[in-house]
Amino acid sequence: MDTSTYFSELFSLDGRVAVVTGGSSGIGRAIAEALARAGAAVVVVARREAELDATVGELRALGCRAARVSADLATRDGVRAAADGAVAAFGEPDILVNCAAVNLRPPFGELGEDVWDTTMAVNLDAPFLLGQRFGPGMAERGHGRIIHVSSQQAHRAFVQSGAYGVSKGGLESLARSQAEAWSPYGVTCNTLVPGFVMTPLNSHLSAQPGKVAALADRTLVGRNGLPGDFAGAAVFLASRASAYVTGQSVYVDGGFHAH
Ligand SMILES: NC(=O)c1ccc[n+]([C@@H]2O[C@H](COP(=O)([O-])OP(=O)(O)OC[C@H]3O[C@@H](n4cnc5c(N)ncnc54)[C@H](OP(=O)(O)O)[C@@H]3O)[C@@H](O)[C@H]2O)c1
Repeated sequence: MDTSTYFSELFSLDGRVAVVTGGSSGIGRAIAEALARAGAAVVVVARREAELDATVGELRALGCRAARVSADLATRDGVRAAADGAVAAFGEPDILVNCAAVNLRPPFGELGEDVWDTTMAVNLDAPFLLGQRFGPGMAERGHGRIIHVSSQQAHRAFVQSGAYGVSKGGLESLARSQAEAWSPYGVTCNTLVPGFVMTPLNSHLSAQPGKVAALADRTLVGRNGLPGDFAGAAVFLASRASAYVTGQSVYVDGGFHAH
């Protein structure tokens, strides 16, 4: 039996184009690398140029096709610029990964309109707008994959979930609405749900060893997550293998949610 052909039929992303927001850091960067190594041409979107350049450089050094767009997803103009720039690189995407997010969590009583607005703009509005921009084209072409990255805080409140948790709850509902609209046309829409992963996003928690250990104890595996833990699930959800998986929240959390 030719196992490599079989694996390739299931999981190869050869010829696909992927856009990964937040693809220059942490979980998004690991997902961008995984999709690129599985064969997709990948466009990473974020604000900071140096991190974008470093990511593209690393992907190209691996022999992958990669490009980048610097844009601020907190504004509607920025979202439009991100979408236009992404299409200019490799054409219309087959795979959209919404991973960019901000995590601003003042005590809830002090949470003002500015924090609420920025959180919703980056974490929920941008995924919606990018979905509206690319989803109908995917449906028309009969194939597409939309993958959002949410959080445990879509399901339970802890470590001051604040506006962040609300935005992630909305994101999982967005995935279900998109799945309802576009799954009949070959476009699956799902959400990856991380546990606690040591990245720049939660550096305030990572600086508290007691907190890090307590979060690891809440998993079943016994450790916190690493960005690389998302590679397999991302390739699966981006590939032909997941054609019958849609509207789902897929927990990549070492069992945090089940504990
Ligand atoms: N780490 C965890 O424990 C954890 C847990 C649950 C869920 N998550 C989720 O996982 C995803 C990735 O998080 P991470 O921990 O990997 O974070 P990270 O390392 O801080 O990466 C965040 C990415 O988003 C980009 N970004 C932020 N604001 C942006 C904006 N306004 N416009 C464009 N890009 C923007 C950042 O680049 P620039 O700053 O250069 O723009 C960066 O590439 C997020 O959706 C997060 O909510 C993470």
